Amino acid sequence: MEYDAIILGAGGAGLQAAFTAGKAGARVLVLDHAEKAGKKILISGGGRCNFTNTGTEPGCYISQNPHFAKSALSRYTPWDFLALVEKHGIAWHEKTLGQLFCDGSARQIVAMLLDECARGGVEIRLGTELGEIGHADGRFRVAGHSAPQLVIATGGPSIPKMGATGIAYDIARQFGMKIVPPRPALVPLTLGEDAAAFRAISGVACPVSAQAGASGPAFSEAALFTHKGLSGPAILQASSYWSPGDAVTLSLAADAGDRLRDARRRMPRSHLRAALAEFLPNRLAEVLAQRIALPRELGNTPDAELDRAAGMLTALTFHPTGTEGYAKAEVTAGGIETDGLSSRTMEARAVPGLYAIGEAVDVTGWLGGYNFQWAWASGAAAGTAI
Ligand code: FDA
Repeated sequence: MEYDAIILGAGGAGLQAAFTAGKAGARVLVLDHAEKAGKKILISGGGRCNFTNTGTEPGCYISQNPHFAKSALSRYTPWDFLALVEKHGIAWHEKTLGQLFCDGSARQIVAMLLDECARGGVEIRLGTELGEIGHADGRFRVAGHSAPQLVIATGGPSIPKMGATGIAYDIARQFGMKIVPPRPALVPLTLGEDAAAFRAISGVACPVSAQAGASGPAFSEAALFTHKGLSGPAILQASSYWSPGDAVTLSLAADAGDRLRDARRRMPRSHLRAALAEFLPNRLAEVLAQRIALPRELGNTPDAELDRAAGMLTALTFHPTGTEGYAKAEVTAGGIETDGLSSRTMEARAVPGLYAIGEAVDVTGWLGGYNFQWAWASGAAAGTAI
């Protein structure tokens, strides 16, 4: 069988590109070493797949070139994907912050993509090792097949136990493309000595505003103390901006100063722990009260001491020793450098017929459906060009 395009990877980006091209008349083959298509979709969003975010905008993505994602995101929007979801009769709901989830199961999204692929006459071969990739006479050769166009959609190395690999980078390098050093993102952070102090409250969560380094954005969501360090949505978001050596700062209450002064007036005989327990989980209040160590009861605590306590509560600073790595990272930041790709088609500038899409590319979304939206949008861009 003659193919117009071979797509490597039957994840969200690869399937989106495949049916977009197939329905427009291209003969498309998808190859994947996994035994099932869309494995990451199946486990996403706690099994309900947070398939897009209605607040999608380029500012919600991290890339060496922050402009790169604009074109594809503007041409295939969350509303385009939602229209597809509705066409397939999949019930959905908005959970929070524009995050759209299936009411039922993530399996419905995979079934929808496979159905669209079938309508486009796409051939999908699973359980296929890719082996060497050849390129001669304007054709790419993979696993005994050949085509004039090849799409790299094999994602990044996060969650290797699911079959994730860095093969996208090897293929890109083979064709002379550059790689922005990959790193785990949306990942829990580990703490050294601090972990011991906070281990007692492993499992405790509370709303915070979290910021990595001095220039990363602040994320107002929940943080979770773990036996290794810090996790929870706010920390995962901040982790994508974290580099070794950076501090992570948590604000536990922006109005901590007012709260402590108010507590001093209302409960002068109490100690700091009681004041903290009014707006923080009990066990966290206990650990923080020990850490802040006000020597006197609130009524005898001078302003300067209260201000010091409030300062620690609005900027509780941690010095992570690292992350929990690819084993726990929801995505991989970095990847195939965008300068080598057309932002309109995702085609390699220097290698006609070669495309790269999805997580393999140096475009990484925030937590909350943004990564799938990039998979759909970049997949649609390449699929339209094929
Ligand atoms: P993806 O990784 O999905 O697909 C790559 C495909 O290539 C896979 O099928 C793989 O088997 C194949 N492949 C890899 N190496 C290969 C090799 N050597 N040979 C052959 N085939 C190979 N995002 C979001 O927006 N909302 C959410 O709810 C979640 N939830 C979530 C939960 C968890 C636990 C994880 C790990 C991740 C998420 N994500 C998410 C992120 C999201 O899953 C991710 O960004 C997309 O799946 C990326 O889609 P791609 O198609 O680019 O890669």
